[in-house]
Amino acid sequence: MQLKYLPSFVKRRGRITKRQSKALEQLDNFLVTDVDDISEALKNYSSCHLEIGFGNAKHLCNEAKLNKDTLYIGSEVYLSGIGSLLASIIEEGIQNIRIYDQDIRLLLDNKPKEVFDKVVIICPDPWPKEKHHKRRLINDEFLSIVKRTMKNDSEIYISTDWENYAESIFVYLNQSMPLSNQNYQGRKFYRNQNHHLLNLI
Ligand SMILES: C[S@@+](CC[C@H](N)C(=O)[O-])C[C@H]1O[C@@H](n2cnc3c(N)ncnc32)[C@H](O)[C@@H]1O
Repeated sequence: MQLKYLPSFVKRRGRITKRQSKALEQLDNFLVTDVDDISEALKNYSSCHLEIGFGNAKHLCNEAKLNKDTLYIGSEVYLSGIGSLLASIIEEGIQNIRIYDQDIRLLLDNKPKEVFDKVVIICPDPWPKEKHHKRRLINDEFLSIVKRTMKNDSEIYISTDWENYAESIFVYLNQSMPLSNQNYQGRKFYRNQNHHLLNLI
């Protein structure tokens, strides 16, 4: 499928270790390709969290091991990160993670359906140069497609170390989810879609 968005990442394969390479042979068993796949997998779980850009997958694996009743959808395009995640899933017998290995905007924009109870984005690529800001993942267009996949009463958590990215995210959040409560302190955002006050993480 032709991507209609500007790339928000530099696609790098990275060095693939033997462990990752072996694990990647099983990728197909853990992939989801669209929201219908997620709905199907969700039948065995009470809630569903999406982590976009999971990197080395440490946060995602920890969360999944702590909350076995929740289905985690991990989104990443970085092959060595996907390999590390798969290796952990296989070695540790983690049952409740599925993977989306393309640009997440393709999944969110295709057959949107309210499936997610929580969306987490930790340190999205900052694209610090001003001429590259248009490549930043989080903008009004992105938030509008994410919103269509989030359930009522769901949450979005975003963190970034980049002050001016944080400020622009704050503006976009206010535009796209204006009725929600929010906490913004320095570099942290924690947002619930349905008016309840939440604690800062
Ligand atoms: C700066 S890294 C942060 C990784 C990890 N969350 C962390 O905190 O270490 C951002 C990650 O987001 C991924 N990414 C960027 N745009 C994406 C997109 N549109 N869909 C899926 N993943 C994306 C990149 O491949 C990259 O691994």
